[in-house]
Amino acid sequence: MAKQKKSVKKGNTTNRPTKKFKKGYWNMLLIGGAFALVIGAMVWAPTMKNAGATEVVVYKSPTCGCCSEWIDHLRDEGFHVIEKNSNNVDQIKLEQGVKRKHASCHTALVEGYVVEGHVPANDIKRMLQEKPKITGLAVPGMPMGSPGMEGNYKDPYEVLAFIKDGKTKVFSRH
Ligand code: CU
Ligand code: CU
Repeated sequence: MAKQKKSVKKGNTTNRPTKKFKKGYWNMLLIGGAFALVIGAMVWAPTMKNAGATEVVVYKSPTCGCCSEWIDHLRDEGFHVIEKNSNNVDQIKLEQGVKRKHASCHTALVEGYVVEGHVPANDIKRMLQEKPKITGLAVPGMPMGSPGMEGNYKDPYEVLAFIKDGKTKVFSRH
């Protein structure tokens, strides 16, 4: 009989841990919930940042590496870049009024403006803010040291503001 009593007592004591376990269960739910919120915020934050980002469509040859480097630069600077690979980028340049002497590798479109070549993101931002009456900006050729053309040395280069007839003005010097 003494043994039975003991087992009843044991039964009572096992009840307490279950209550404790329930408490622990709720704590885990709370922690889990908080964790889910943090993860959710981490996933949401970049998408929300992207929702307000300026869209840039970049036409480039599928095999050109420096164009991709320039695209990375734009993305780092907060632009939302859409890449369009084309084997006839010259045709796009022609359509967009980029003269041969101002041509570079890639041609981009942003808010109605043309951006030709390795133009720094800050110049694009300034153009979008000032809204000049121009066709767009161009960095002719591929000067070393321009965004996407980083290397062992830097060439000084000019960012040109151009209009469709080919007239240009210096927009910035680097
Ligand atoms: Cu290039
Ligand atoms: Cu390129």
